[in-house]
Amino acid sequence: MIGVFDSGLGGLSVLAALVDTLPDADFIYFADTAHVPYGNKSEEQIQCRVLAIGEHLASHGCDLLVVACNTATATAVQALRTAHPGIPVVGVEPGIKPAAQQTRSGRIAVLATEATANSQRLQQLIRQHAGKVEVFVEPCPGWATHVEMLQLDDPALAADVRTRIEPLLEKGVDRIVLGCTHYSFLAPLLSEVVGARAELVDVAAAVARQTQRLAGRLAHGSGRLQLHASAHPERLRAALPRLHLGHIAVRLT
Ligand code: DGL
Repeated sequence: MIGVFDSGLGGLSVLAALVDTLPDADFIYFADTAHVPYGNKSEEQIQCRVLAIGEHLASHGCDLLVVACNTATATAVQALRTAHPGIPVVGVEPGIKPAAQQTRSGRIAVLATEATANSQRLQQLIRQHAGKVEVFVEPCPGWATHVEMLQLDDPALAADVRTRIEPLLEKGVDRIVLGCTHYSFLAPLLSEVVGARAELVDVAAAVARQTQRLAGRLAHGSGRLQLHASAHPERLRAALPRLHLGHIAVRLT
């Protein structure tokens, strides 16, 4: 069993890539809906939640964990690995490396939660992979909550997206990294604003490939999916078609 988790619905964008790459694997997806969003919480609070979810998934038989959340990875992936030395853990980190490799203008942007934007891990990633590339980090408070509430067409969100993205484009940014898994569900809205001026960088497919490398026998299960949540698990099931993930619903047990 492969355990995948996020603060809420965002990690479903990673789960979709995992299901594409590992069609016969069995998954439990855990959404921490009682504590979403993580982006405005302290490192201690996020670590405490990540360790509790790790325990939950391990006790349900997960032999591989995917932290489908940039915020949780930046603040707590090491603590999770220390707590479960026998379980491989795949984290999700903003795609600074591919963006820095692909940029032609030498300027890239990272959209992230406040916690990720302020994390030492993000600074480390930038130092390690961005070299001479100029990186603009843009915290986007409230965006994950809009996704969580399935308010993807809210005009206030569209206006905020425009307010944050236009100045980045004016600075010459040509790659925009989606540094929060919730933002994958805002890709249509972001693409509308960005047009041909920049490309969005999402690492979900790369995370799925890394998980496949570690999956071994876990790749050969029964293709089942369980959804768990710390609050309102029924909303998770109902959200799948709203997020264009109806095809995943057929795997539900
Ligand atoms: N989906 C999460 C991420 O990738 C966190 C969103 C939130 O809970 O603030 O960062």
